[in-house]
Amino acid sequence: YRILLNKKKQEKNYCFPNHEYADVDWDNLGFGLVQTDYMYVMKSSNDGKFEQGQLSRYGNIELNPAAAVLNYGQAIYEGTKAYRKRDGKLLLFRLDQNAIRMKISAERMCMPSLSVDQFIEAVKQTAQANKCWVPPPGKGSLYIRPLLIGSGPVLGLAPSPEYTFLVYASPVRNYFKEGSAPLNIFVEEEYDRASRGGAGGVKGSTNYAPASRIITTVLKALTRAKSRGFSDVLYLDSVHNKNLEEVSSCNIFIVKGIVISTPATSGTIISGVTRKSVIEIARDHGYQAEERVIPVDELSEADEVFCTGTAVGVAPVGSITYKGQMMEYKTGVETVCPQLYSTLVGIQTGQIEDKKGWIMEI
Ligand code: COI
Repeated sequence: YRILLNKKKQEKNYCFPNHEYADVDWDNLGFGLVQTDYMYVMKSSNDGKFEQGQLSRYGNIELNPAAAVLNYGQAIYEGTKAYRKRDGKLLLFRLDQNAIRMKISAERMCMPSLSVDQFIEAVKQTAQANKCWVPPPGKGSLYIRPLLIGSGPVLGLAPSPEYTFLVYASPVRNYFKEGSAPLNIFVEEEYDRASRGGAGGVKGSTNYAPASRIITTVLKALTRAKSRGFSDVLYLDSVHNKNLEEVSSCNIFIVKGIVISTPATSGTIISGVTRKSVIEIARDHGYQAEERVIPVDELSEADEVFCTGTAVGVAPVGSITYKGQMMEYKTGVETVCPQLYSTLVGIQTGQIEDKKGWIMEI
């Protein structure tokens, strides 16, 4: 048995039975996939109902080459995180919000959806089964990815006859290679992320890669900007090429005095759970938080800029480059961004009392 475990350990990181932690270099986590032991799988019946899901060992899944997800991109996803408390319990953050958003995304993408309770139960089971992969307090979190795909075969363009809901997880820390250092963002003018009447506001997988019709060329723009040394790209609205939308991987906020503004979600912007939480925390701290149209010109007047997202957290932006001109922003301990971030993370990790009912302890 020991020989078998040692062999397994050489093949991949491994969670030994009854060990509190998996064999991971916790000090060097980034946002790369670390495969964990279990995933959760639930298939729909032919009438699109989700009834019984279960945990299985993490591994490849089998798909028909004609699967709707492979051919027509019928897929939506969510992202959430589990944190380990000092007493060893796990904390999950605002899971109901992810469950509701997945239902909204499913409706837009012509997919049947799970109930809120089914979604929450699946995420809870995945977190618990992979508990030894949740980093020690202060070293990161377990990123959990619920995914709903059209797994049935179609030839002509049509909704899939069958769907698969999967939940997998990976321990993570900082999303950007910059770590917690300020980001340098590039305003993308050639490519649009989302169009009016399109599906940019839902968490469809096709919003994140070169996709059909007018929607996105996110990977292309992102790769180009990264090769020029930028952290990420900021999109403008596709009608006027003038108003801020979102960054490829997160939402954006600008700060001017005590006013904190973020683009209103009007169908082309993802309604981030972190975005929503930061707005509420900012108001609790006495700031005026606004969701509105933000013309790109306001970037030159902002004191501070930051990004929010489940993967990204709350990340300071040091500079934004627009039309060849680099604008720089205040960063550091005296700014708004770390204040909001420490409150958010404090609630998420159980160090600040949760008076909002955002936390579920498992
Ligand atoms: C998340 O923050 O959970 C996302 O879905 C963004 C993704 C690019 C990692």
